[in-house]
Amino acid sequence: MVVASQSEASAGTVSGHLTPGPILLLGAPGAGKGTQAKALVKEWGIPQISTGDLLRSNFERGTELGRQAKVLMDRGELVSDDLVNQMVTDRLKEPDTARGYILDGFPRTLGQANWLDGHLTAHTGALPVIAISIRVSYNQLLRRITGRRICPVCQTIYNVYLQPPKVDEVCDKEGAHLVRRSDDSKEVFDERMRAYESLTAPVIEHYRKLGRFEAVDGELEVDAVSAGVMTAIARLRG
Ligand code: AP5
Repeated sequence: MVVASQSEASAGTVSGHLTPGPILLLGAPGAGKGTQAKALVKEWGIPQISTGDLLRSNFERGTELGRQAKVLMDRGELVSDDLVNQMVTDRLKEPDTARGYILDGFPRTLGQANWLDGHLTAHTGALPVIAISIRVSYNQLLRRITGRRICPVCQTIYNVYLQPPKVDEVCDKEGAHLVRRSDDSKEVFDERMRAYESLTAPVIEHYRKLGRFEAVDGELEVDAVSAGVMTAIARLRG
């Protein structure tokens, strides 16, 4: 395995020869997990597996799982470990995960983390998972969540305060009218934060104790955060 030098990684240009393996992106709602996952997909061509996106896609396709999940998501509560673990099991069977993948928003509970550790141990030859936490303060998270808009066609993420489109509420690439997620209100955000602090913070401790964890400053510009994430990955895979 070839790992980028520190200076390469700092510049956000981790060598294309690095085998990324499984990478977890952790962080509070709006920390920038989805935004950074997309940057890693571009760098390595490995898939982003967002449990939030998989659940929303289930709802759009009218599945029973999607209907059950939507009720909880709109309240800011977590979907049960069993349902989410099964969904991830199915996704990890796809051949595009062979070189690695980015888990965006999973695991979110200690139960999910223990399940994932067991799942990966059972697959001999898999690189150990590494976890990166993106840290952002409460007030900034609130702006990011309440200002977020998404293109329903190409899924590009905008923010009316921080990363606005050229024309108000219209996608720069597709010309489509941007949409807002149903759980992006202040009230639901506060509930999501409560779930994050009580159930997901222990997951960070879990990976920290295993020595496979780094935190990055998520308050910087998107490209600077990406450089921090790349540096952390290079260090953990070094
Ligand atoms: P999910 O969809 O995973 O939502 P989340 O974790 O709350 O995270 P977000 O998608 O809101 O934020 P993000 O960190 O991806 O930020 P983004 O890059 O979009 O989960 C939704 C729900 O599904 C959960 O509440 C739960 O019910 C359920 N669920 C999902 N996974 C589950 C699991 N494993 N177990 C159980 N239930 C589960 O960025 C946000 C905004 O900030 C954007 O507008 C963006 O443009 C802007 N931005 C990003 N980075 C920067 C930057 N550096 N500078 C300025 N602006 C930035």
